[in-house]
Amino acid sequence: MNTALCDGIDWVGYIDWTVRDFHSYVTSRGATYNSYLIRDEKNALIDTVKRPYADYLLRNIAGFLPLEKLDYIVVNHAEIDHAGSLSLVVKAAPQVTLVCDAKCQNILKAYNPEAEGWNWQIVKSGDTLSLGKRTLTFLETPMVHWPESMMTYVVEEKILFSMDGFGQHYASSNRFDDEVDVSVALAEAKTYYANIVMLYGKQIQKTLAAASGLEINMIAPAHGVIWRSHIDKILSAYKEWVVCKSKPKVLVIYDTMWDSTKKMGEAMIDGATRKGVEAKLIWVRASGLTEVATDVLDAAVVAFGSSTLNQGMMPMMGAALTYLKGLKPMGKAGFAFGSYGWGKGGPEDVDAQLRTMNFEMLREPLKAQWRPTPEVLEECRAAGAMMAEKALAMVAVQS
Ligand SMILES: Cc1cc2nc3c(=O)[nH]c(=O)nc-3n(C[C@H](O)[C@H](O)[C@H](O)COP(=O)(O)O)c2cc1C
Ligand SMILES: [Fe+2]
Ligand SMILES: [Fe+2]
Repeated sequence: MNTALCDGIDWVGYIDWTVRDFHSYVTSRGATYNSYLIRDEKNALIDTVKRPYADYLLRNIAGFLPLEKLDYIVVNHAEIDHAGSLSLVVKAAPQVTLVCDAKCQNILKAYNPEAEGWNWQIVKSGDTLSLGKRTLTFLETPMVHWPESMMTYVVEEKILFSMDGFGQHYASSNRFDDEVDVSVALAEAKTYYANIVMLYGKQIQKTLAAASGLEINMIAPAHGVIWRSHIDKILSAYKEWVVCKSKPKVLVIYDTMWDSTKKMGEAMIDGATRKGVEAKLIWVRASGLTEVATDVLDAAVVAFGSSTLNQGMMPMMGAALTYLKGLKPMGKAGFAFGSYGWGKGGPEDVDAQLRTMNFEMLREPLKAQWRPTPEVLEECRAAGAMMAEKALAMVAVQS
């Protein structure tokens, strides 16, 4: 495996082939925790790995350098997947100085009671740290992904260590974007963006603006492959994702007990497909929340359906709406639908929840009692056609 970003800068992280649940995010391709070692007159480690894998990190570092020669650890982000093994690395290299911003120091102290005794160098945006031949500069990027997050730039080699930004949960034996199928890397970057930082689009726009002043040869994130041959592709994708740019795409997301709600959703998909737009039916209980968020990111119109269970919506539809509410997709339109037996519940609950989520509501809930009749199914097909027309109109206004 080629770990060299350039002469003197190497990847020393951990490939987590088997992880499938990353705080509820379904990581179907695994993950990596990227740590980078810069060897110069002073030696610096950029971020660490999840705590269970500290031994791998220490072994990787020792392959290049005795641990007592490590001078700095730059902590771009205090989250446990990157900073969880700090205390073990400091134990193995007690001479080391931690370089981070003030907010990061506070969080690291909360997680590591022993951190009071560590050596610290607190930095802010624009500060520099000379390693000898190389200079590091720091760029604070609050809320990408936590309040303390920052990125680190190597001036001479023009490498941006971008922490969670531009990351992907993607385990691979190759470390670079041109050594893997780039469409897979981009798809995983989209899933990552949608599920981790969709709600921070505005802050990421600011980061993109600040980074546009830098000449960049490589973007080395804290997860997944390093961008060096397709930097233009990931940057232009991010420009669309930060504004939740919609495609002419219609989604129908539902949950059901006895398939009446599914039949309604299928009729909507049929109506939308006839208008020639991309349409996708998602059974939330089969596909899961990670896929739901990823597909909502670039959909224009979304119908959410639930049958009525104990006077309310199905629990996984509740989970999906709660999850999406937190992720704050912008500029989307939609409506609620679903089946019931003898009273109000599922569709009304979905409708009420959507109205708290800044969705442009296209109609009142579309409902069927017990099984949808041919008339109701026709209404569903018409609703699907209306979704498609709305999606095309929304995209026309955007571009
Ligand atoms: C466990 C259970 C609880 C239900 N609770 C309600 C209810 O509180 N109110 C209601 O109108 N219908 C209720 N129903 C009836 C369903 O909403 C009805 O069968 C509906 O057509 C199911 O749609 P589906 O085929 O999409 O699952 C319940 C059904 C089941 C199986
Ligand atoms: Fe994070
Ligand atoms: Fe992370």
